[in-house]
Amino acid sequence: MNDKPAILELRNVNKSFGPIDVLHDISLRVRAGEVLCLLGDNGAGKSTLIKTLAGVHKPTSGEILMDGQPVTFTGPSDAQGRGIATVHQFGGTFPLMSIGRSFFVGVEPTKGWGPFRIYDRKRANEIAVKAVRDFGITRIDDGDRLVGGLSGGERQSLAIARAVYFGARVLILDEPTAALGVKQASHVLRIVNEAKKRGLAVVFITHQVMHAMTVGDHFAVLIRGAIAADFRRGEKSREEITDLMAGGETMADLEAQVEGYMETHQGHPPPAKVLEGPAAQ
Ligand SMILES: Nc1ncnc2c1ncn2[C@@H]1O[C@H](COP(=O)(O)OP(=O)(O)O)[C@@H](O)[C@H]1O
Ligand SMILES: [Mg+2]
Repeated sequence: MNDKPAILELRNVNKSFGPIDVLHDISLRVRAGEVLCLLGDNGAGKSTLIKTLAGVHKPTSGEILMDGQPVTFTGPSDAQGRGIATVHQFGGTFPLMSIGRSFFVGVEPTKGWGPFRIYDRKRANEIAVKAVRDFGITRIDDGDRLVGGLSGGERQSLAIARAVYFGARVLILDEPTAALGVKQASHVLRIVNEAKKRGLAVVFITHQVMHAMTVGDHFAVLIRGAIAADFRRGEKSREEITDLMAGGETMADLEAQVEGYMETHQGHPPPAKVLEGPAAQ
């Protein structure tokens, strides 16, 4: 897997906003059929990094390459036109539109769908419903339903299916599971896996280590704008990743405390009041 050429690559990218240095010397590769998990605490620079990948921000210095060739994105629509799709936490879709309508909104009518220049509700619905169902979301069967009536996971799924349908090669997901319950999150994780199977390169941003470990092939931990660790599936344990993200020993200490208690209490976990420090609530 390591020798696959990268679809998208950052080389020594720095990004400053005026005097504020946000990203430091970031080098990353995103490959087809692979999920890169970008982990990091709030404020680490994850959003700035993906906005740089998606053409929203220009690097202050360093290079962006696509298929090995240096590129300069003139803006987000330029990056989008080259197949880089970003899906935001709430799916970025339109609550008051129907599923079919929202699927085709904002898509250049000249890009291969000439016959739909006049909105064809029936066709749009068929295509949208099929695209979502192909991703395994079989509960969506009526394209006239309003997007606002879908669950968070279904909206994410719709947004991902839409990006894939319109030819995305790189799918950037900014905290897609952060606001979802367990079941909904597992739907979205399944869809991420499906997108990967279809050969997309996925950049999955999260601070939920378990979600990252479920789908990730490659991991990068961002701390204060720099890559603090870069490793592949199986190279680090959940505990190690959590500690890296916390940037210290806090979680390891807490877990050692819990394990110590369980060893002396027939395997029962401690009640919260036994645990000291700010992590116990
Ligand atoms: N446009 C901006 N101007 C100045 N500082 C910014 C700007 N965007 C982000 N930052 C700063 O960069 C840091 C990282 O932010 P962000 O990329 O949003 O982190 P994350 O998504 O990991 O929470 C923060 O300290 C934030 O205040
Ligand atoms: Mg963010």
